[in-house]
Amino acid sequence: MSDAVRIIEVGPRDGLQNEKIPISVADRIAFIEALIGAGLHTVEVGAFVSPKAIPQMVGSDQVLRGVSHIGGSEFHVLVPNEKGYEASQAAGAKVIAVFASASEGFSRANINCSVAESIERFKPVVARAKADGIRVRGYISCVLGCPFDGEVKPQAVVDVAKMLWDLGCYEVSLGDTIGVGTPMKARQLLRAVAGSVPMEKLAMHFHDTYGQALANLYAGMEEGARVIDSAAGGLGGCPYAPGATGNVATEDVIYMLEGLGMKTGVDMTKLLAATNEVRRLIGRPPVSRVASALNAKMRTAK
Ligand code: HMG
Ligand code: MG
Repeated sequence: MSDAVRIIEVGPRDGLQNEKIPISVADRIAFIEALIGAGLHTVEVGAFVSPKAIPQMVGSDQVLRGVSHIGGSEFHVLVPNEKGYEASQAAGAKVIAVFASASEGFSRANINCSVAESIERFKPVVARAKADGIRVRGYISCVLGCPFDGEVKPQAVVDVAKMLWDLGCYEVSLGDTIGVGTPMKARQLLRAVAGSVPMEKLAMHFHDTYGQALANLYAGMEEGARVIDSAAGGLGGCPYAPGATGNVATEDVIYMLEGLGMKTGVDMTKLLAATNEVRRLIGRPPVSRVASALNAKMRTAK
């Protein structure tokens, strides 16, 4: 496989939004800076959503203002509506992400509106972003299955992807929110969506609930996809997606990519240190296989 892969580190947002223990703004900033220091260029750092819906993301404005830009790093934040957009701009966001669903059940649970209504909500957000020179990423959840509606047809994903792309999103991230996908389905989905959005503009956002995320990523890469969302330590999940566990772990992705001969620019030792620090914050070990293996190796070597 050739070509560079671009990684969007989503741990500080997708990871921490699902944690029971509140993590202070200072600790969130330190985590993000450790990730950037490890060589991860793009990090999703927070969300301008309702504090009642996701209390863990309160203080995202302070996180965004407080975090140091090192080496041209890029910070993303989630924005569900115009209120969130205004707050994101007051905090200086340069890249935002709107988030839709391929299924009605999850759309209602997560953002309290239908899929069509969510697109209507995003229209003024994207229009204002365009006028302000802000880049907008588009997420689609439940692309390979929904905790409420069950099976999700690829066509439903294609339809939403096309809407987000036509709105002006620069990239569309396909979220297997509950991690139910398998490689053949991931491959077929990417092929189907690439008929409406160029493959190089598609990101793979795979949760690892059933342990399939790396295999699904590999299948997607064989189709030509080159953008991966991952979370340090395999943190992650959505409080509105019952049964969902973490994102594919960044360490596991880096290990696989480097093994494929791809240069990621990520320093595994520093990434492991960042992941281990989060273990202290959340009070349990990371689920990443590579982090566990490297920690065990270090213990044996002592
Ligand atoms: P709603 O209740 O329909 O909104 O929520 P509303 O407009 O009726 O407002 C209700 C209250 O929320 C009001 O406050 C608003 O001011 C406030 P009150 O008068 O009751 O005090 N409000 C806000 N406050 C702060 N920031 C805002 C905002 N908007 C309204 N932007 C809403 C609709 C979308 C706001 C709500 O449902 C929400 O915030 N949902 C976010 C849920 C979320 O963040 N989920 C996790 C991220 S998505 C994810 O994890 C999936 C992903 O990783 C991909 C994948 O894995 O699939 C991206
Ligand atoms: Mg997610």
